[in-house]
Amino acid sequence: MKVDVIVSPEHINKEYIKDKVVVVIDMLRATTVMTTAFMNGCKEVIPCLTVEDALKEASKLKREEYILGGERKALKIEGFDLSNSPLEYTEEVVKNKTVIMSTTNGTRTLTDCKDAKRVFVASMLNGQAVAKKLVEINEDAVIVNAGTNGNFTMDDFICGGYIIDEMLKLTGKIDLTDVAKTSKYIYENNKDIISFISGARHYGVMKELDLLEDVSYAIKKSVTNIVPEYKEGHIIN
Ligand code: MLT
Repeated sequence: MKVDVIVSPEHINKEYIKDKVVVVIDMLRATTVMTTAFMNGCKEVIPCLTVEDALKEASKLKREEYILGGERKALKIEGFDLSNSPLEYTEEVVKNKTVIMSTTNGTRTLTDCKDAKRVFVASMLNGQAVAKKLVEINEDAVIVNAGTNGNFTMDDFICGGYIIDEMLKLTGKIDLTDVAKTSKYIYENNKDIISFISGARHYGVMKELDLLEDVSYAIKKSVTNIVPEYKEGHIIN
């Protein structure tokens, strides 16, 4: 098994990922939101590239069957039920519902990876469970960082390093590309995740918008065994 890391959706090569198991990370905050929605019993998540696509998906369901969530510029989309704050996706709100989401980077990265062999949704919250899943599958894997607006982000990179570190604890040895080794090295040397990511651009956006509670939540390690999988346009548990 070989593990690679793609540092932003701009670097996705569809031919390269098509026969690989892909893990998508948007720790701040889309994949943390999705993991949380499943922890709180949502039925499925439908990631949509545009607001129009999201509204179209919503029109196929009864009003009580879905929740519309997501962001533009980190703020709630007009007319949507929820923003992209994981703390809003409580059991009372999402249980048994279809969560239809559109975000700037996270849902875009997922849809860009749709033709990979398998696609899993990862965050710090389910890092250990994702590592276990990859080790069980035992095939070449690529961790794809959603980044921010096409650029590399420190937060997704360290989260990928955490997953690789957990995989190594299970297997002892994995063939890592140089970028995967660097991701693991960054995690190993920055166990205080907040200090590291406080230098990230998107952390600054969260701080400015008074959303640091979301960040404190998103750095929680392995609080769930749920590993959502993206299949034919839907993310399921
Ligand atoms: C995204 O998908 O771009 C984000 O998760 C941004 C955010 O709301 O923090």
